Amino acid sequence: MSDQTSSVHYINYLDLDKILNAQHPLSGKKNKSEAHEEMLFIIIHQTYELWFKQIIHELTSIMSLFKKEKIDEENVGLIVGRLDRVNKILDVLVQQLDILETMTSLDFLDFRNNLSPASGFQSHQFRKLEVMLGLKIKERHQFGGCPYHSQFSGDKKEEILELEESDSLFLLVEKWLERIPFLNMKDFDFTQEYKQAVSDMMENEASEINDSKNLNENDKKIRIKMIEENKKYFDNIFNEENHLKSIEDGTTSLSYKATMSALLINLYREQPILHLPYRFLRKLVEMDHKISLWRFRHVQMVEKMLGQKIGTGGSSGQGYLKQTVDQHRLFEDIANISTLMISRVYLPELPEDIKSELGYNFSNKNK
Ligand code: HEM
Repeated sequence: MSDQTSSVHYINYLDLDKILNAQHPLSGKKNKSEAHEEMLFIIIHQTYELWFKQIIHELTSIMSLFKKEKIDEENVGLIVGRLDRVNKILDVLVQQLDILETMTSLDFLDFRNNLSPASGFQSHQFRKLEVMLGLKIKERHQFGGCPYHSQFSGDKKEEILELEESDSLFLLVEKWLERIPFLNMKDFDFTQEYKQAVSDMMENEASEINDSKNLNENDKKIRIKMIEENKKYFDNIFNEENHLKSIEDGTTSLSYKATMSALLINLYREQPILHLPYRFLRKLVEMDHKISLWRFRHVQMVEKMLGQKIGTGGSSGQGYLKQTVDQHRLFEDIANISTLMISRVYLPELPEDIKSELGYNFSNKNK
C-alpha cells in the first residue's frame, strides 16, 4: 500500500489539498452570521468552472483538427466523439441548476450582499467558450454601453481580444463545408438539380390542391398562398445574391456555399462518406440547443431567486439574460437547413458512379 509520500498518490495527483481548500465563504466573517448555503453556492460555481475548462479543452482539440487543410475520416470520427462529450457535459451543466435550486431566494439573501459586484458575468472561461464558438461583439446583447470584455484586465483581457481575432469554430466549420467537393460531381450539379426538384415538388403540390375535391375554394386559396410563401423562402436562399444580402443585414450567418453543402450532407446522409459529416452537423446543432437550454434554465433560476432585482454585475438581471437565449445562438442556420429539405420522393437520384465514390471501397468492389 503506498502512502502520501510516494511519487503518485491520489491526493497529490489530483492536487486535492488545493482544490478542497479553495472554498472561502464570506458570511461568518467580521462578526456576520454564517450562511449555510454559501458553501453550496461556491462549490456549484467551481464545478461549473471545472467543466468549462474541460469543454474548452475539447473545443481546442476539435478546432485544431479543423485547422488542417484536409480532415480525413478518422479525424471526423474523433471530432464527433469529442463534440458528443461536450454535449454530455452540457447536460450535466443544465442538471446542476436543480441542485442550486434547493437553495431558496431567502437563503440566497443571507449572503448575496457579500458577493457584489462579483457576477457570473465575469466568468472568463464562459466568455472564452462563447468567443471560441463564434459569438462576435456586434452580435451580443449589450448592457450599460460597455463591451463584455471591459470586465477583464491585463492578460485575461488580452487573451479574450486575441481570441476575438482568431478563427472561431463557426468560421472553421463554414470553411470546411465550403471545401467539401460534392456540390459539383462529374455531370451532377447538385444546386441545379435540387432547384429543379423543389420546383417540381411545388408544382405537384399546387396541382394536387387545385384538383382536390375535399377542399373548398377558400382552403385552396390559403394553401396555395402557403406554397407561394415557401417558394419565396427557397428563392431567397437559393439565389446567391439574395443570400449575400441576408448575410449583410444579419438575418443569416452561414455562407451560400456552406449552406448548400450542409443541405447536401443532410439530404444524402445515408451515403457512407456523408454519414459522419451529417452526425457532426447534428451534434453542433445539439450543442447550440443545450447552451440555449442552459441560458434559459439559468434565467428561470434567476427569476426564482431575484424576481426583477438587478444583477450583482449591474445588468437588468433576468431582462438581460432572456435576450441572450435566442440572440446568442450560433448554429441556427445549420438547424434551419430542415426548412430547405424536401421529401425523399422528390430527391434527385445520385448517378451510380457518384454513389460508388461516396460508398465504402469494399462494398464497391463487390458490385
Ligand atoms: C443564485 C444563483 C444565481 C443567480 C441569482 C445568478 C444571477 C445572474 C445574473 C443576474 C446575471 C446577469 C449579470 C449580472 O448583472 O450579474 C448572471 C449572469 C451569469 N451567470 Fe449567473 N446566477 C446564478 C448562478 C449561476 C451559476 C451557478 C453559474 C454557473 C457558472 C452562473 C453563470 C453565469 C454566467 C456565465 C453569466 C453571464 C451570462 C451572459 O452574459 O450571457 N450563474 N447571473
